[in-house]
Amino acid sequence: MVRVIAVKSKEEMGKEASAIIAAGMRQKPHYVLGLATGSTPIPLYDELVRLQKDEGLDFSTTITFNLDEYIGLSPTHDQSYRHFMNEKLFRRVNINLKSTHVPDGLAEDIEAHCAAYEAMIDDVAGIDCQVLGIGVNGHIGFNEPGSSLASRTRAVDLTEETIRANSRFFKSADEVPKRAISMGIGTVLEADKILVLASDAGKAKAVTAALEGPVTIKVPASALQLHPDVTFILTQDAAAGLTLKFRR
Ligand code: PGA
Repeated sequence: MVRVIAVKSKEEMGKEASAIIAAGMRQKPHYVLGLATGSTPIPLYDELVRLQKDEGLDFSTTITFNLDEYIGLSPTHDQSYRHFMNEKLFRRVNINLKSTHVPDGLAEDIEAHCAAYEAMIDDVAGIDCQVLGIGVNGHIGFNEPGSSLASRTRAVDLTEETIRANSRFFKSADEVPKRAISMGIGTVLEADKILVLASDAGKAKAVTAALEGPVTIKVPASALQLHPDVTFILTQDAAAGLTLKFRR
C-alpha cells in the first residue's frame, strides 16, 4: 500500500515520521531502523531527540543501518555521513554507538565490506523501518537513475547532478567525492516499512514521477510503488504535482 501524508511544515513532517517510528520502537525493543542523511530528515531527528528527552523514548536497544557513505571520507571527516549521524542523532540520544552502522568509506575491500553490511542486516532479521529522502533526480540513497531495481549494497558512481546538489556542503564541487557505497534498491525494498520524506518545491517533480510515473530504472524511487507498506510524508509544495488518490 502507498500512503501519502501531506503536511504544512517541515516540523510537522518530522512529527508525523517520528510518531510512526516511535510507535514501532515502543512495540519492538530491538527495533531496526534504516536511516538517511541530507537536509530533509533533520526535523525527524530533532523530533526523535525531543521524544527521548520529554517522553522517555528509549534508544538503548535500537539498531540502525544508514543507507550510504562517500568513498574516501573518514568517519571523522565533517562531511562524512557517519559524522552527520553522530551529530544529528546518535550523540543526542541514548543509543549504543556500537549498534549504529554506516558503510565505511575507507574500507579497503569495498566488495567484501558491502557483502558484510548486507549480512549484518540479515543477522538482525532485516530492517523494520527504512527512512528515505529523495533526490531531485529521483534517487534513493545513492541509487542514481540507471541503478538496477534489484541492486544490493555496492560501490556506485555519483551523477554530475548529485555532485552539484551536494557541493553546497563542500568548499567546491571538486571536493565532493565521486563515488559512494550505497544500499541497493533491492536492499531497501526488503525493509518491512518505508517512510519517504520530501519537503521542498524542488522535489515535486521527483515525487510525482516516483508516485505516479511508471516503475522505471530512470526514477529509482518509482520502485517503491512495488513495496507493500510505503508512506510518503510530504510538505504541500513537495506534493504539489500529485493528482491521484492513493488507495489500498
Ligand atoms: P536532501 O537530499 O535531503 O539534502 O535534499 C535528499 C537526497 O538526495 O536523497
